Amino acid sequence: SDQARILHQDKMMSLGKLAASMVHEINNPLSGILNYLRLMIRTLSRGPLAEDRREKFLGYLNLMENETKRCSQIVSSLLTFSRISSPSFGQVQVHDLLNRCIILSRHKLELQNIRPVSEIEPHIPQVAGDFNQLQQCVINLIFNAIDAMPDGGTLRLTGHLDNTKDYVTITVNDTGPGIPEKNLPHIFEPFFTTSQEGYGVGLGLSTVYGIMERHKGAVKVESQPGQGTTFKLQVPIYGMNQ
Ligand SMILES: Nc1ncnc2c1ncn2[C@@H]1O[C@H](COP(=O)(O)OP(=O)(O)OP(=O)(O)O)[C@@H](O)[C@H]1O
Ligand SMILES: [Mg+2]
Repeated sequence: SDQARILHQDKMMSLGKLAASMVHEINNPLSGILNYLRLMIRTLSRGPLAEDRREKFLGYLNLMENETKRCSQIVSSLLTFSRISSPSFGQVQVHDLLNRCIILSRHKLELQNIRPVSEIEPHIPQVAGDFNQLQQCVINLIFNAIDAMPDGGTLRLTGHLDNTKDYVTITVNDTGPGIPEKNLPHIFEPFFTTSQEGYGVGLGLSTVYGIMERHKGAVKVESQPGQGTTFKLQVPIYGMNQ
C-alpha cells in the first residue's frame, strides 16, 4: 500500500541519520575502553600486580564490559532497524522491483529535474532474493545517482539476463560527473564518503555490497570522470541453486 511504501521510504531516509549518530555513540565508549586497556597493559608490563591494583583492575574491567555492551546494543538496533538481520528469500520479479524503486524515488527525481528511463528485457527470469533487501540496494544506487546529478540529467535503469544465463544484471546509470579513479578502490568501504559533513555517512554502497554477498551475487562499477557512472547488480536467477 502507499502507506507502507511511505513508511519504508522514511525508514531508509532516517537510516542514514541513525548511522551518523551511531558513529559518535560508538566512538565515545570505544575510546574509553582503549584508555583502560592501555593503562592495564602499561601497569602489567612493569611487573606483578599488587593486591590493591587488583581491585582497581576489576573495576576497569567492569566498566569495559558495560561500555562494550552499549556498543553492541547500538549496532544491533541499527541491524534491526534496517532489517538486515532477518532476510526472507523467495522469487522476485525484476519488473516489480525496479518499478517500486522508481516510485519510491519519483519525488526526489522530480525535485532535481532528473528523467528516469527504464529498459527491462521482456521475459526476464525471476531472481532469487529478499525483495526488501534488493529494493534497498537499488534505492541506494538510485539515491547516489541522484546525488551525483544536482543539476538534472538522466537516470537509466536496465534489467537483462546475463549471457551465462546464471544471473540477471540490473544496471543503474547516471549522467553525473563520474567517480575519480583514486576513489574507486574505496567506494565500497563503510564510512567512505565524499559528501559534505552531515549529509552522507558512507554506508550506502557497503550495505549494497553486504546484501549482494548474502545473495551470492555481486556489485560492480564502471565509471570515468566526465562519462557518468554505471553500477551493476548481478543477482542469481530463481531456480538455479535452490
Ligand atoms: N553515482 C555516483 N556518482 C558519483 N560518485 C558516486 C556515485 N555513487 C557513489 N559515489 C561515490 O561513492 C561514495 C560512497 O557512496 P555511499 O553510497 O557508500 O555513501 P554516501 O552516498 O556518501 O553516503 P550514504 O549512502 O551513507 O548516505 C560517495 O560519497 C561518492 O563519492
Ligand atoms: Mg549513498
